Amino acid sequence: MGLVVHGRITAQISNSEYCGKRCLLNGRNRATTLRSNLEIGCTEAMVVSAQTEVHSKLKTQGAAAPLAAGTIRVSELLSALSYALDLTEGRPMGHSVRACIIGMRIAQEWRLPAEDLAELYYTLLLKDAGCSSNSSRLYHILNADDLRAKGDLKVVDWTKTGWQSLHYALTHVATSTPYPEKIWKLLTVAMTQQRDSCELVKIRCERGSMIARNLGFSDRVAAGIHSLDEHWNGGGYPNGLRGSEIPLFANIANLSQTIEVFYRARGRADAVDAIRRRSGRWFDPELVKTAISLCKDGRLWAALDKDDLNAEVMALEPEDRRLTANDKTIDTICEAFAEIIDAKTPFTYQHSNGVAEAATEIGERFGMSEPEMKKLRRAALLHDIGKLGVSNEILEKPGKLTGEEFDVVRKHPYHTYEILKRVPAFADFCADAAAHHERLDGKGYWQGLKGDELTLTARILAVADVFDALRAKRPYRDALPLEKVFFIMQKDAPHGLDWPCLDALMGAHQFSFAPPSTEPETATPQT
Ligand SMILES: [Fe+2]
Ligand SMILES: [Fe+2]
Repeated sequence: MGLVVHGRITAQISNSEYCGKRCLLNGRNRATTLRSNLEIGCTEAMVVSAQTEVHSKLKTQGAAAPLAAGTIRVSELLSALSYALDLTEGRPMGHSVRACIIGMRIAQEWRLPAEDLAELYYTLLLKDAGCSSNSSRLYHILNADDLRAKGDLKVVDWTKTGWQSLHYALTHVATSTPYPEKIWKLLTVAMTQQRDSCELVKIRCERGSMIARNLGFSDRVAAGIHSLDEHWNGGGYPNGLRGSEIPLFANIANLSQTIEVFYRARGRADAVDAIRRRSGRWFDPELVKTAISLCKDGRLWAALDKDDLNAEVMALEPEDRRLTANDKTIDTICEAFAEIIDAKTPFTYQHSNGVAEAATEIGERFGMSEPEMKKLRRAALLHDIGKLGVSNEILEKPGKLTGEEFDVVRKHPYHTYEILKRVPAFADFCADAAAHHERLDGKGYWQGLKGDELTLTARILAVADVFDALRAKRPYRDALPLEKVFFIMQKDAPHGLDWPCLDALMGAHQFSFAPPSTEPETATPQT
């Protein structure tokens, strides 16, 4: 059986050969590995079908073929965009990339075959793809900052009751609530902890694995993401899988992220100590042994301290399995991240797609060229990617934001810029995407740009963003009818919003403006 990849026939192996090869190379028990593969549903048909599926959406670059100038690699896009997932997890940017480097080093040491390495690679980069989907729920359970709660939880062994867990609860539950209410909330959280943890992990892992599938990755990548929080002793979530029931990719990803988190927060010695203490409870002891040996001789840390982490991580994708992106792939990735952004809070449900729709309506009426329209749509889909770094405590606050909270909100376009500028393929629109809250009179944010400093794309995005935000229900007000939306927006043009853009959008909605007799209340969106 063969699969044509860029005009070359890749050697296909049967499942038994596949498992046997892996056992031989790993020095592991063949029967155990075969069982593991079957347990994660790795039948021969699935291996072939998964590869076919990935290859139909993402092109593989053959080893013999050098990358043509201008070729965009999927790893280049996903490693850069993973910085957004790090923000959502309350981790310093670069967490996913560093975890990917660690996981790939461990897997190389285990001499996994190239097809395994290629799939593990994307499991590691996308392990947190579902992270935004439980942020709102976590905020409501804890009544506190979800980003801080998520970030700090990574260095707590929450499976053990003791001072560490108690201290975490005291400092992360109902943090701004007066004491009698806080005590009650703490008791409630303690009573429902197991059920809530399972629910939170389930939401996250189901969404994450679905996103991987939608991107065209195989069932094995999806299964690795789905089981990220399973523990070797059966004490993890969502299914309480135990030992070899846990997909290998998931156990490597969990081990790698733990090493990364402790390494960044407390240093090398604490990272080694953390995985040693969790060996056999959270992680496969054999994997831990490998990781500790890599830590001891310094090989694991060397790559993490490099200045250009992205180059480092891109070099780790197996050379003959490198995925390249065409226009459709790039659009699919933008759509997937738009979904991740919008899942952060129910109040922004479908906002990114709504902005993209309004922006393209304006662009079409301006007769923009196809490349310009493509750029505009991608910028619209990703304009709020920096909002993944804003806590739901702020995004879902029913009342007026404090000055400090609004400062956090004002930073989200800056984070959009910081994330998108890492993607060379997005260089021609990252500044415009990050300018969606700028106004022509210079009173917008984050840079206070004005007039001619704002490109047509930036002006279109600003109009499309306000339009979609006003039409949606927000924590501090209900959704507004179209007539009121345009009335409010007209009052903001031409000094704030670009009049021709607004006029084009109204035209697209066959709207003829008739001013209402009463003055409307101001409803300028906060985000
Ligand atoms: Fe925004
Ligand atoms: Fe927005």
